[in-house]
Amino acid sequence: MGIRFDSVTVAYDGNVVLDALDLTVEPGEVMALLGPSGSGKTTALRAVAGFVRPVSGRVFIGQRDVTDLPPYRRGIGMVVQQYALFPHMRVADNVAFGLKAQKAPGGEIRGRVAEALEMTGMAAYARRYPRELSGGQQQRVAIARALAIRPGVLLLDEPLSALDAQLRSGMLGELARLHRELPDVSMLYVTHDQVEALTLADRIAVMDRARVRECGTPRELYRAPRHEFTASFVGNANLLPVTVGAGGVSFGGAELKVSTEGIAPGARATLCVRPHLVGLGPGPNQLSGRLGEIQWRGATHRLYVDVGGNRVMADLRELREPPSHGDVVTLHFAPEDAVLLNAEVGHGQ
Ligand SMILES: Nc1ncnc2c1ncn2[C@@H]1O[C@H](COP(=O)(O)OP(=O)(O)OP(=O)(O)O)[C@@H](O)[C@H]1O
Ligand SMILES: [Mg+2]
Repeated sequence: MGIRFDSVTVAYDGNVVLDALDLTVEPGEVMALLGPSGSGKTTALRAVAGFVRPVSGRVFIGQRDVTDLPPYRRGIGMVVQQYALFPHMRVADNVAFGLKAQKAPGGEIRGRVAEALEMTGMAAYARRYPRELSGGQQQRVAIARALAIRPGVLLLDEPLSALDAQLRSGMLGELARLHRELPDVSMLYVTHDQVEALTLADRIAVMDRARVRECGTPRELYRAPRHEFTASFVGNANLLPVTVGAGGVSFGGAELKVSTEGIAPGARATLCVRPHLVGLGPGPNQLSGRLGEIQWRGATHRLYVDVGGNRVMADLRELREPPSHGDVVTLHFAPEDAVLLNAEVGHGQ
């Protein structure tokens, strides 16, 4: 079942924290809401769940306008960061909670609880109490509880952020598997972790200050962002101030060949180049400068090079003979690996 925000505005004490949000999650789609703290991600989720009432606009789940329905009548499953399990209830009772509230028959409850625990790999833990589980296991139970009511949509608010890095990547795989097993369930997945969004989402809506700045597939947002904000929030980016010429741009003293399609000559613009697409040594689109810092990151070296007062980052496969601080180094990138963006004066307008 899909989700649709139709010009949804939410305000607290007159402060608009969600500003006329228009967004559609297709049936079976995973949409990530990605954005900095305070940008309105949780608020958007709560508007779908029914925990916050928009001052204007409508929320649809499937064809149904749910704006005026209470949460328990919306057919949603919700998972939040802090698991929020009932501490005095065994795992099975936690998972059964929503079904009992719906007054489902006992036999059906048992079947659905078993199914949900099976799906999340928690069948062996049905008799335990939450305090007898690890963080990752508790989060699985929370997911099982959300799934037990067979929701049309699953709302996830930073479900992995309380877990350590290794567990997080394992759970990410689990969520991807669940998504494959439940192809009709739409998921709205709030995160400020770009790796989670890139890995799991069919599309990402990048939020900034109560609005969606840009929405697209992970590949679109990564390869061809339209805004600096997106470029820097989805992956790392070098954002270089340039002046547009014919067939290229000038940056500092250097003339660089890049596609200038859609941007008028003479304009100021921003050139986005991903650090891992920058090479060391001479090549097309060459930039030279002094090496500021070099970081060894195991598989890669990260170089920070001062090019005419701008810091350019390069992520290179581990170097045998890395340059040292203060050395003059030459970097290059392929014309097709750069994206030219309209320069933004701040952002938000
Ligand atoms: N109950 C509330 N009363 C007043 N203001 C609130 C309330 N809940 C949220 N806000 C404000 O609304 C804005 C958006 O909050 P929201 O929780 O949606 O952000 P978020 O994007 O989920 O951030 P985070 O990544 O930190 O979880 C924030 O400025 C926050 O302070
Ligand atoms: Mg939040």
